[in-house]
Amino acid sequence: MSISKQEVVSRYLPEVLQPGTRAEAFAPSNIALCKYWGKRDVELNLPINSSLSISLGDLGSLTSITESEIGVDQVYLNDEALSADSRFAKKVLAFLELFRRELRQPVIVRTTNNIPTAAGLASSASGFAALTLAINDFYGLELSDNCLSAFARMGSGSASRSIYQGFVEWNKGSSVDGMDSCAQQLDYKWPGFRIGLLKVAIGEKKVDSRAGMQRTVESAALYGAWPQQAENDLVTIKRAIVDRDLQLLGQTAEHNALSMHATMIASWPPLLYWQPESVAAMHRVWELRESGVSIYLTMDAGPNLKLIYQQADESRIRDAFPELLDVDIVAPFD
Ligand code: PMV
Repeated sequence: MSISKQEVVSRYLPEVLQPGTRAEAFAPSNIALCKYWGKRDVELNLPINSSLSISLGDLGSLTSITESEIGVDQVYLNDEALSADSRFAKKVLAFLELFRRELRQPVIVRTTNNIPTAAGLASSASGFAALTLAINDFYGLELSDNCLSAFARMGSGSASRSIYQGFVEWNKGSSVDGMDSCAQQLDYKWPGFRIGLLKVAIGEKKVDSRAGMQRTVESAALYGAWPQQAENDLVTIKRAIVDRDLQLLGQTAEHNALSMHATMIASWPPLLYWQPESVAAMHRVWELRESGVSIYLTMDAGPNLKLIYQQADESRIRDAFPELLDVDIVAPFD
């Protein structure tokens, strides 16, 4: 039996909240090298497998909370005021509600994403992480890093990893309240490690990751093999990071992502996030690799590719993919 988010959060709130007048926080976006796919608890976003990601430095979300003078909560996204019943505003306010006890003081929440809109990156991870950090500050909660990560996870699973920069591991945990299901920053550095964003298709995806993973867990027989593979891949990826072995890291991350997609395709109704352009780009990556460039791909619940490589190969990769955006965005260690 699942415990509610509200019940878990309430245990960690002070008796009396002491709201400030303004708080602001930034959190980076992240790309999983070993993916999270499948929940053991849908209410708390508890994962079936552990995962590992790299955060994208200064690409992410900046969120502020201020007192509102006009008597109602207001939500802004990229400087645009949203109506209270928009999907984004509802999600933000429902999350905030978990933390403010009986306090009815209205607030203004502003989120600005600096992720290039053309990059095809989800902003829910950085958005919920930044919101959690801003809430902690605004209400003076003084939560530990583990708590911040666990609470961000309740907004969006991958947000647990966006609390940190660099390489981050999200331990699946085993407790019923999920408080041991939080991320940790790994103490590994890799100067010259790069993630390139390759946008191949636009448009809202029809099935979001929440619905997609649920469908996979419920209908794909292939999913049975996923948790063990993910656990093994995570160990291999960690070793590859320690040894700065791009070939081992790249092939394990690519295999991991394509295995996750195989479970999606094996769902019913089928879940195929790829567009024809995605497949064409995958072939271009493989051709480039055959020609001797150390380049690997990963993909999430969408049609776009993320490329994994090292700075030394950047010019050959830019030549092969002139449309590649911000190839040097992930340089937190340089
Ligand atoms: O945290 P969510 O619900 O946005 O799910 C993320 C799922 C993947 O991006 C496909 C994998 C991952 O680990 O980020």
